Amino acid sequence: MSNERTYRVAVLGGDGIGPEVTEAALDVVRATGVVLATTYFELGAARYLRDGFVLDEATLESLRGFDAILLGAVGPAIGDTRIPGGVLERGLLLRMRFGLDLYINYRPFRGVAGSIAEGCQFAIVRENTEGPYAGEGGVLRLGTSHEVATQGSVNTRFGVERCVRYAFERAASLPTPKLTLVHKTNVLTFAGDLWARVVKEVGREFADVEVDYNHVDAACIYLVESPQRYGIIVTDNLFGDILSDLAGAVTGGIGYAASANLNPARTGASLFEPVHGAAHDLVGTGLANPLAAVSSAALMLEHLGELEAAERVTLAVQDFDGDVKTLGTLGVTKQLLERL
Ligand code: IPM
Ligand code: MN
Repeated sequence: MSNERTYRVAVLGGDGIGPEVTEAALDVVRATGVVLATTYFELGAARYLRDGFVLDEATLESLRGFDAILLGAVGPAIGDTRIPGGVLERGLLLRMRFGLDLYINYRPFRGVAGSIAEGCQFAIVRENTEGPYAGEGGVLRLGTSHEVATQGSVNTRFGVERCVRYAFERAASLPTPKLTLVHKTNVLTFAGDLWARVVKEVGREFADVEVDYNHVDAACIYLVESPQRYGIIVTDNLFGDILSDLAGAVTGGIGYAASANLNPARTGASLFEPVHGAAHDLVGTGLANPLAAVSSAALMLEHLGELEAAERVTLAVQDFDGDVKTLGTLGVTKQLLERL
């Protein structure tokens, strides 16, 4: 059972199917007995289109003070070109990741029945505040035939080390402790060398963890051909972004993939969100798959220290055996509630 605490959760349903899958996740969490006090924030594409608002400093500061943030999905419908690329990504999602120092993006995967990676369990620990996402670079002579665009990758000793240490801690707690660094050390020699040295150094503190290294292109093959080789994959922001979509695809689809944007130092609220997008085409059909949102909420429970509730929700998702398209959002949620 949960303790007596009430957790203050900021709910950012967002756009498309975001609000409905988030409500399903909240229903499942509440059914565990964990008590949540929710505060709703309207942020995302719809809010931006309505009044030009993305996220301001005051809202960001207020988010910082919550015990957790639960996010559904953010973004316009495919083909809706009214919002320039980057406005929501940089202005909302990355602003929260950077502003709240959510330096880990933890993405666990479990191959569902019938998937390429059926039965495999592994997780990606993605550095979440640096790399090419840091926004270093710029444009010169825009729009001319001499245009120059540079986009740097920022890798700090501090940022890499805290990410690698978190990944080792995760790896150490696995039944078979294994950590694989994924990078491109043969070409990105400066950043790659830093990552490789840090893994070597931090690895000395974790003698029980087997350490491996894959180039990112090879990891794309291995994720498809031998995903059972992985325990924890630790990698930089951009490689982690790309690999987690591939990992989602081989483990049953992005509809199952959960993520935790974590500030393990707890200097700001951590944020939990499914990896999938807003899927506007599913709005109103009742067919949105809530499993990734529910699994993300389980990661939230884990972060809040509600380990038993987290385990119950995770197992309910694991035991789910219906067809999402037949059961629909409500049917899936009902089955999860029965299995808690
Ligand atoms: C993700 C998404 C984001 C990212 C986008 C929407 C900014 O693809 O969470 O994986 O690139 O990190
Ligand atoms: Mn992505």
